[in-house]
Amino acid sequence: MLDQVYADYRDCLNPPLARVMKVSGSPVEVRAEGTTIVDHTGKSYLDFAGGYGVFTLGHRHPRVVAAVRDQLEKIALSGRTMFNPLMGRLARRLAEITPGDLQISFFANSGAEAVEGALKLARAATRRVKYVATANAFHGKTFGALSVSGHEVYRAPFEPLVPDVVHVPFGDARELESALSDAAAFIVEPVQAEGGIIVPPPGYLAQARALCDRFGALLIVDEVQTGLGRCGALFACTEDGVVPDVMTLAKGLSGGVIPIGAYVARAACWNAAYAKAPLLHTSTFGGNELACAAALAALDVLIGEDLSSNARARGAELLAGARAIAQRHPGVIAEVRGRGLLVGVELRHEGYAGMIIPEMLKRGVTAAWTLNRQRVIRLEPPLIVTANEIATALAVLEASVSVAFAQLGPL
Ligand SMILES: Cc1ncc(COP(=O)(O)O)c(C=O)c1O
Repeated sequence: MLDQVYADYRDCLNPPLARVMKVSGSPVEVRAEGTTIVDHTGKSYLDFAGGYGVFTLGHRHPRVVAAVRDQLEKIALSGRTMFNPLMGRLARRLAEITPGDLQISFFANSGAEAVEGALKLARAATRRVKYVATANAFHGKTFGALSVSGHEVYRAPFEPLVPDVVHVPFGDARELESALSDAAAFIVEPVQAEGGIIVPPPGYLAQARALCDRFGALLIVDEVQTGLGRCGALFACTEDGVVPDVMTLAKGLSGGVIPIGAYVARAACWNAAYAKAPLLHTSTFGGNELACAAALAALDVLIGEDLSSNARARGAELLAGARAIAQRHPGVIAEVRGRGLLVGVELRHEGYAGMIIPEMLKRGVTAAWTLNRQRVIRLEPPLIVTANEIATALAVLEASVSVAFAQLGPL
């Protein structure tokens, strides 16, 4: 099976990626449940890459799967000519659980599409052109989302991107202040995830909120990865007591069963953009019944079982355990940081990651790089993870760090 899948990737999908995955010993995923993925040989892995944040409820949560099965017997994708009741219910649910007066939702199919929608909303609402974003940000790879992302490697081949985007250092309110005049919006992640799990100084988002108010720019908080319990609160921006003008969501929104993305906006912003033009920004598949049924069930589980609290408690164990490993292996690990179950292990050299991640896989734990900073290993397990599973993953991490140092020495 592995040989055929490799050949399919090499011949018809992505030849260089196929080779990288082969060299790092990637098996073939065939089944998954809870925190476990099973490969083509029947071997089980604890999933600490977590689909890069998708599997908040673990894989195939039974209540989400049941909701989707049930919906499949009724209507799967919206016919678009009639009211879609699930999309309405999901929008109301999001208005109830998102902070402050966030109220009007738009549904798409991915994080990048949610960001596109938010960026367009900001221009239409403010009639301004400029966007301010943060260096090292990751907001997705479609043109608009890429334009506000801050990593040259992904941007350079596609330039010119959307014009009038200014990048300021993440976490620096002064630099933000000097860039904000005439901006339609400032877009920011509460914790930079793909940027290498970078946590800003406390109060940064609150300062950004105040500055956006002063300059009349919208504050778009991109919670695609940090939201829905990942960082130990339902939404990470509430740690700073901040209500954005627009919040983007995706990844965990449907509990890891059906793709969905969304933005939720303040009514005044949405009305300023679209009150007279309801079809200016639309998506054929966005908000389809299957995805909405999955999302409604996923939110019930997330909130009903208070998984944010588990993320906070288990996240504290993961952070403390990884920091202790860093102290015992200072030659390999430079720093450990994170919030909730979004934890980054920064290595002294990315060469170590190239050995540690495959070694962890061999030992039955998945982990992954962060996209913008390949020497940071992310640990991002489902929010249902147990203390025992955290301990297992930490033991595997430490063993793999030891193997990497023994084989590579100081880099
Ligand atoms: C903060 C953030 N925004 C947007 C995206 C893009 O999401 P997608 O890959 O679903 O387009 C990501 C993906 O990692 C992300 O972390």
